[in-house]
Amino acid sequence: MDLGSYLREKKAIVDRNLEAYFPEAEGRASDLMDAMKYSLFAGGKRLRPILCMAGAEAVGGDESRVLSVACALELIHTYSLIHDDLPLMDDDDLRRGKPTCHKVFGDAIALLAGDGLLTESFNLMTAPESTNGISPHLILRVIALISGAAGYRGMVGGQVVDIQSEGKGVDLSLVEFIHSHKTGALIAASVASGVILAGGDESQIEAISSYGRKIGLAFQISDDILDIEGDSRIMGKESGSDEQKGKITYPAVIGMGKAREIQSELVAASIEALQMFDHRAEPLRQIAHYIIERKK
Ligand code: IPE
Ligand code: IPE
Ligand code: MG
Ligand code: MG
Ligand code: MG
Repeated sequence: MDLGSYLREKKAIVDRNLEAYFPEAEGRASDLMDAMKYSLFAGGKRLRPILCMAGAEAVGGDESRVLSVACALELIHTYSLIHDDLPLMDDDDLRRGKPTCHKVFGDAIALLAGDGLLTESFNLMTAPESTNGISPHLILRVIALISGAAGYRGMVGGQVVDIQSEGKGVDLSLVEFIHSHKTGALIAASVASGVILAGGDESQIEAISSYGRKIGLAFQISDDILDIEGDSRIMGKESGSDEQKGKITYPAVIGMGKAREIQSELVAASIEALQMFDHRAEPLRQIAHYIIERKK
């Protein structure tokens, strides 16, 4: 299996679906729609939707059934990026290779574009076309999982501690909390929701959730490392901004060598968690490696 073509193929499916979902901006609130679409289609790896589809595939499910939820995950993720970049948070000017949403549309519209994307994700997950043929119990379970992971128990909670910890000396357990919440939670929910919607059983859901938590944490450690060693032109966002802001990162707290060691352990453990799955979980196994080797 060639992971590069797998990722490109899945990303194209997600992009096509997202494009079809959003009409041309019009009407009195068209600026809002323009801002939402600006950030959504600026680029992005579409990793969370791809994980959702790969999760379904691992249990023999059909990716078309999970496509709406996969796209909804990307709306939530894009909202989190728009808000994360705002001057009152990380204050960044470049995202996905373009000026950040607030740089182009202003702070208020960017804030509302984030709100618009977040709320629209729930509209998309509950639309009749999305839920057709899927048991309402499964849909509700997935919505509960995703909303929990995105909210104060997950991503938003992690973002708060991230902001409050800037410039402070912290220990490994705090940075682990920040990373597993601000980034790991939505990634774990993404892959688990694919399994749930595809009708995976409880042991499969638990195993893949465990995989998701591990790669989710490893993913944010890569993000920290790329902020130090990455190429801004490849990443589409400024490097060096964590140190400048006194951000709590793995390399800052435990050093680059130890950060990489933990990452490798997480990847190995994530693959271990997939033991019960056959070749259909191969994309997930390869994605685990990709997460710490990626350049963007
Ligand atoms: C960036 O996420 C923010 C983090 C949670 C680390 P991605 O690296 O997935 O960004 P895109 O979606 O590809 O732009
Ligand atoms: C962001 O973490 C996590 C989110 C929930 C958006 P970062 O602040 O490190 O992400 P980047 O580096 O700006 O993409
Ligand atoms: Mg941040
Ligand atoms: Mg940031
Ligand atoms: Mg970062």
